[in-house]
Amino acid sequence: MHHFKFRDGTLYCEDVSLPDIVKEFPTPFYLYSHRTLLDHFYRIRDAFQEIDPLICFSMKANSNLSVCKTLVNAGSGLDIVSGGELYKALKIGCPPSKIVYASVGKTEEEIKSAMRSEILLFNVESVPELIMIDSVAKRLRKKAKVAVRVNPDVKADTHDYITTGTKEKKFGIDLKQAEDIFDNANKYSNVELKGLHVHIGSQITEAQAFVGATKKVLDLLDKGNIEIEWLDLGGGFGIVYNEEKATTAQEFADSIIPLLKGRSFKVILEPGRFIAGNSGMLVTKVLYVKTGTTGKKFAIVDAGMNDLIRPSLYSAYHDIKPIVARRTETEKYDVVGPICESGDYLALGREMQELIAGEYLAVFGAGAYGFSMASNYNSRPRPAELMVIGEEIKVVREAEKYRDLIRGEKIPKEI
Ligand code: LLP
Repeated sequence: MHHFKFRDGTLYCEDVSLPDIVKEFPTPFYLYSHRTLLDHFYRIRDAFQEIDPLICFSMKANSNLSVCKTLVNAGSGLDIVSGGELYKALKIGCPPSKIVYASVGKTEEEIKSAMRSEILLFNVESVPELIMIDSVAKRLRKKAKVAVRVNPDVKADTHDYITTGTKEKKFGIDLKQAEDIFDNANKYSNVELKGLHVHIGSQITEAQAFVGATKKVLDLLDKGNIEIEWLDLGGGFGIVYNEEKATTAQEFADSIIPLLKGRSFKVILEPGRFIAGNSGMLVTKVLYVKTGTTGKKFAIVDAGMNDLIRPSLYSAYHDIKPIVARRTETEKYDVVGPICESGDYLALGREMQELIAGEYLAVFGAGAYGFSMASNYNSRPRPAELMVIGEEIKVVREAEKYRDLIRGEKIPKEI
């Protein structure tokens, strides 16, 4: 459930109408609903209440400071993947004791600053990384708190690019090697092996894959007689973009919790998309409607693949609707951006009301992996991010200006 709804043919974000917003703010822009973010966070928290997990919102889905702070204020921790995300997490006052850090390529510098900040856990993805963490801890005279990220070799039914838990992927450590690490824990004398971590992929709409991965991890614990304080089950809960039947938070909880009953460790969850995905949209204007040589209609809009890359990169479906519904015949459109690439589209062959230049479209489901994957390709300033909070519209990130495009560039005098 999200708070972007049509009332008498006009789209609203909570109680603010989109036509009012576009009067005030130039497109394209991202628009987030504060209430939806919180609702989705509470939905997971409540569904899993029985085991009272630490929920660490996955910042890579949306690292806007106001989005993250909204969740941190509600009790969320953060799942980070870089020194930049650590910086932002600390900036908004996320308690380090609620920060977990995954990534196959943590640099020595990143490890140092996370260790100095006393984060809850490093989710370690390889033995060489564990050796690096151990040596950094020694130098800093600290004990590093580590969870071993395992690769359970479980296939999640999702796009190949966002499947992470099968053995040919770069993520995690295979189960046998993970067991060896625990058996030889004394080799890493500056590390405390606190837990296990597993994340099998993203946009997973079936609980079965989670159940499979969790069972494999529990098996490892039991067989290896391994004691842990934390079991981090990662993120990946899918959402509805189109007509998929997504499993609800409650259904995920109902299938996972029974496996965890009677265990003494605490559970961490790292949802990103489930919380942010349908809490945000991209709003764009139709610049031109063009009929191609084959008679195909193109709606050319002012947002491109640099603003929202998911359709181009994963052939992802995002629902697109004019912010004011008119009763017209429908037509099929390729909704395309201004970028100089044929792969620059938001939708292909999409049946929509007859579009006219100057009208505005809402691209739904863009709150996760939308702005966070945006770029300046074609020297396009990244769009503003707005948030509706109650009756008010707040700018939570200004649109970039042309001068932002050249920040840090230098022209040597030899040129
Ligand atoms: N934890 C770890 C270790 C992850 O790698 C990820 C996502 C998450 C949690 C959060 O997963 P979520 O709950 O959001 O599914 N750019 C892609 C998604 C990449 C996901 C990467 N890892 C997309 O636009 O679909």
